[in-house]
Amino acid sequence: MIGKCLFPVAGYGTRFLPATKSMPKEMLPIVNKPLVQYGVEEAIEAGMVNCALVTGRGKRAIADHFDISFELEHQIAGSSKELYLEGIRDVIEQGVFTMVRQRAMLGLGHAILSGEPLIGEQPFGVVLSDDLCLNQNGPGVLSQMAALYREFQCSIVAVQEVPMEEIDKYGVVAGVAERPGLTRVSRMVEKPPKEEAPSNLAVIGRYILTPDIFDIIRDTPPGRNGEVQLTDALQVQASAGRVLAYQFDGLRFDCGSVPGFVEATQYVYENYYGRA
Ligand code: G1P
Repeated sequence: MIGKCLFPVAGYGTRFLPATKSMPKEMLPIVNKPLVQYGVEEAIEAGMVNCALVTGRGKRAIADHFDISFELEHQIAGSSKELYLEGIRDVIEQGVFTMVRQRAMLGLGHAILSGEPLIGEQPFGVVLSDDLCLNQNGPGVLSQMAALYREFQCSIVAVQEVPMEEIDKYGVVAGVAERPGLTRVSRMVEKPPKEEAPSNLAVIGRYILTPDIFDIIRDTPPGRNGEVQLTDALQVQASAGRVLAYQFDGLRFDCGSVPGFVEATQYVYENYYGRA
């Protein structure tokens, strides 16, 4: 059973300036719910109730979001507006939130390593909340991955096919089919130019990682863009046959880009808003 999930939420969100000038990008709402709450709900649904937030300066709003707002509770207690707080109250009750600050933005690998004190020696999930994953009529993507972990006990990355024109935005995997929709990864490359991409299977922001990843990251030199890349650390596990790439059931929206954000907003409004 995987009980912990790590949320790297220290990034700047420059693509959403000026909205993200004084507000964390993870607090941008898709309709009426912040992006990070979608990710936390997905983790809790998968049984990962311990949510480890790797935050940074200017991110206090995230910590406040997962705490009781005493004044607000007091103000609307007994009023018709109380129902608006129900969803987040459930999340706060079910989840346990821990935080550590990433002091320098040295890459996703570095962010994960910064979370080590909150995770310890156990397998854990990772959610990049920019990637909104929804599976309306079935289990969430992390739940699907947790079930796979029980079967295979190794690191798992969520992947989807993307057009080759966009492949240089992603970590890319190649390997051998384990069964339909599941690949035993042998190669992983971070943001390759399309001529060098080993496939069109792109990693999206859901991972299950075994805890040996921390020692591997410690030994991983900076890679693409001079950052310590999780993809490079995962290559070490992949070389030993210990990474699976999973083509999940459900939809994924790239909410780190404006078009993806708008698409997600439209989809959530049409399919979720106003429903129980
Ligand atoms: C990160 C990872 C990349 C992955 C992507 C998914 O990149 O480094 O491997 O494909 O998330 O969204 P970022 O988008 O943070 O640059």
